[in-house]
Amino acid sequence: MSHAFRKILVTCALPYANGSIHIGHMLEHIQADIWVRYQRMRNNEVWFVSADDSHGTAIILKAQSLGISPKKLIKKIQEEHKKDFLNFNIFHDNYHTTHSVENLFLLRKIFLSLTKKKLVFKKRIFQFYDNIKNIFLPDRFIKGICPLCSAKDQYGDHCEICSSTYEPVDLINPVSVISGATPVLKSTKHLYFNLPIFSDMLNSWIHSGVLSKSVVKKTEEWLKIGLKEWGISRDAPYFGFKVPNFSNKYFYVWLDAPIGYMSAFKNLCYKNKNINFEEFWNQDSQCEIYHFIGKDIIYFHTLFWPAILESSSFRKPSGIFVHGHLTVNGSKLSKSRGLLIKSSDWIKFFDSDSLRYYYASKLTNNINDIEMNVDDFIYKINNDIVNKLVNLASRTSVFIYKYFDGFLSNELENYKLYKNFVNSKKSIEEFFENRNFNLVVRECMKLLDVANQYINKKKPWKINVKNGNTNTVHMICTMGINLFRIIIIFLKPIIPVLAKKSELFLMSKLTWKNIEKPLLSHKINKFHKLYERINAKEFLNYINKY
Ligand code: MSP
Ligand code: ZN
Repeated sequence: MSHAFRKILVTCALPYANGSIHIGHMLEHIQADIWVRYQRMRNNEVWFVSADDSHGTAIILKAQSLGISPKKLIKKIQEEHKKDFLNFNIFHDNYHTTHSVENLFLLRKIFLSLTKKKLVFKKRIFQFYDNIKNIFLPDRFIKGICPLCSAKDQYGDHCEICSSTYEPVDLINPVSVISGATPVLKSTKHLYFNLPIFSDMLNSWIHSGVLSKSVVKKTEEWLKIGLKEWGISRDAPYFGFKVPNFSNKYFYVWLDAPIGYMSAFKNLCYKNKNINFEEFWNQDSQCEIYHFIGKDIIYFHTLFWPAILESSSFRKPSGIFVHGHLTVNGSKLSKSRGLLIKSSDWIKFFDSDSLRYYYASKLTNNINDIEMNVDDFIYKINNDIVNKLVNLASRTSVFIYKYFDGFLSNELENYKLYKNFVNSKKSIEEFFENRNFNLVVRECMKLLDVANQYINKKKPWKINVKNGNTNTVHMICTMGINLFRIIIIFLKPIIPVLAKKSELFLMSKLTWKNIEKPLLSHKINKFHKLYERINAKEFLNYINKY
């Protein structure tokens, strides 16, 4: 009987509902999906949720430009996003939206808590106003020089170069993105959250093993500069939730966005009565919660979010898993500018396993950027998956059918070698657990080389079966199939489609606990091409027109 050892909730950052999912977003969801599939193979109970981040000014402007209502826009985009993820075999248990009843309910509950504890207060401030368009300018509609690192062309709330977060008035030489005018300062009232009061708590929390070293270091720098009160309201026009008793003010999208992690899960609990929301989110919870995010949104997750959770008496995450950014052929794939290949375009040219495999081969648990090189991508897939992996199955199964009617032998030719492969399990487990997927791939390729060299050396095609050597051929090829099977079990979380096809081919389910026990005296299916070679021709034609 298998039983669940751990109970885990996994989230991916919530993509903005104002644009398409691109292959940079996909990196994060693929990374999380691989981790989730691995944990499930280990019999852990895992819930995987994400949602669209459906609030903010950008949503209104996008809706206006399309001539539809924001509600219509976010519905349409949510459907599109869901489809995009399914196309890459990313199976969220729930893909929700922050514009939901659950999110409004939790936001109100949390806000009430903050109010009761006197952690929020109103403050009169001066804010940038566009005199031509006659609106207060939201953060993303002001650009200027970063006050911390002096990078040019940065947004009003956040620098993409040094990842700092600041107030728009801190920007040097600000300009309105909508009209190009220099914005003027105008007085208005806003809601603030007393973040500095949590400095000590945050300082000890970030050192409690929840973050990797480099993320701790980054967060420490911000703590050292000193935390500031955090503005959590925004002016109309805004698409979001209104602040109660505060005319024409809305909650800042970054307050209700992380609450979206909880509300996506709450909505899942509503759909599946076997899951208990409190069991995961109460302060004494024994369950684990992990947020997968990109390095550009560390500040929100290691400072704001834990402080909000602390203020409202919910538990804090067990870990924040931060990845670097994807760059394509050397050019920075920034999230709001630059070369964005939509995932729905990518999938027209390549299957989903290939991108999953390529990303896995590059993914580590550090925050370095990840370089996608299209030539390297094509080479790696054809070399690793076709020439090495699939070929091992094809070259050995031929004989299993030619002479043995599809039946594997009842003995292995080399138990010691089989055992060596089994022994890799421990390190593979560690690599998966620590999100060092590049090492999983590397180890599997090493094993594949050994397996293929073994077959090359034994040369079953040269053995004369008429001389009573059939048994040897049988055992060698059965070895080949069994070594292939171990490797495809290891790779199953990464390449689920090929794994599924391999299960049909082997007529056996690929499970973690089956690794130790070889498949013997077992009928397998005739080999049909498990994977087609890929090429970049059509893709490059398309990209050149981009
Ligand atoms: N809506 C916020 C997240 C709110 S989470 C409570 C947001 N959205 S986003 O659409 O801009 O980005 C979503 C995720 O995708 C982030 O984790 C971000 O780091 C990641 N990526 C966006 N572009 C990326 C790359 N080029 N490469 C890798 N990840 C990228 O931020
Ligand atoms: Zn900067």
